[in-house]
Amino acid sequence: MELKEVLLNRRSVRKFTDESVCREHIDELLIAAMSGPSACNRCPWEFFVITDPKALGELRSASRFTKMNAPLAIVVCGNLNRALPVQLSEYWIQDCSAATENILLRVTDLGLGAVWCGIHPQKRAVERVREILDIKEKWIPLNIIWIGHPAETPESRTQFDPKRVHYI
Ligand SMILES: Cc1cc2nc3c(=O)[nH]c(=O)nc-3n(C[C@H](O)[C@H](O)[C@H](O)COP(=O)(O)O)c2cc1C
Repeated sequence: MELKEVLLNRRSVRKFTDESVCREHIDELLIAAMSGPSACNRCPWEFFVITDPKALGELRSASRFTKMNAPLAIVVCGNLNRALPVQLSEYWIQDCSAATENILLRVTDLGLGAVWCGIHPQKRAVERVREILDIKEKWIPLNIIWIGHPAETPESRTQFDPKRVHYI
């Protein structure tokens, strides 16, 4: 697929078939994730790859907006031990968001489907995901990306609006 096609085809997919995602594809998604930019190249990210049905079931209960039937979830976490100091530490969110978007684009390129479900800054959801994944470190779950073979195909589109562009 051309890059432009990948960009326009990337849509949130919330319905999946039962087919699992193969290990080669999971590796491709993680390579894409860790190809993204990061402030001062701190790479303050950690990725949990979840295929265990019990853990997937528990993650579905982490937030009321995240009840997807996908066979795979990647939880993208910020690692505060790797983040920049003091007020620059918040850059972890942007770094992990860039990694997340890279995963979504590679998902589309591979013919898979995914949806980004936000966790941070919902305090209760953050604590719930930390419990489920037994996270003891200074790691903060930014999101759950549900991934699988799509059982729906939202139409390709951009939301381009020239009124939102400001030339100076
Ligand atoms: C930070 C963030 C949090 C999101 N959280 C959820 C969520 O909890 N549940 C969900 O179904 N979709 C979630 N989404 C997906 C958005 O609803 C979706 O991207 C938006 O409606 C645009 O649709 P599109 O992705 O198909 O272009 C989230 C997206 C972002 C960027």
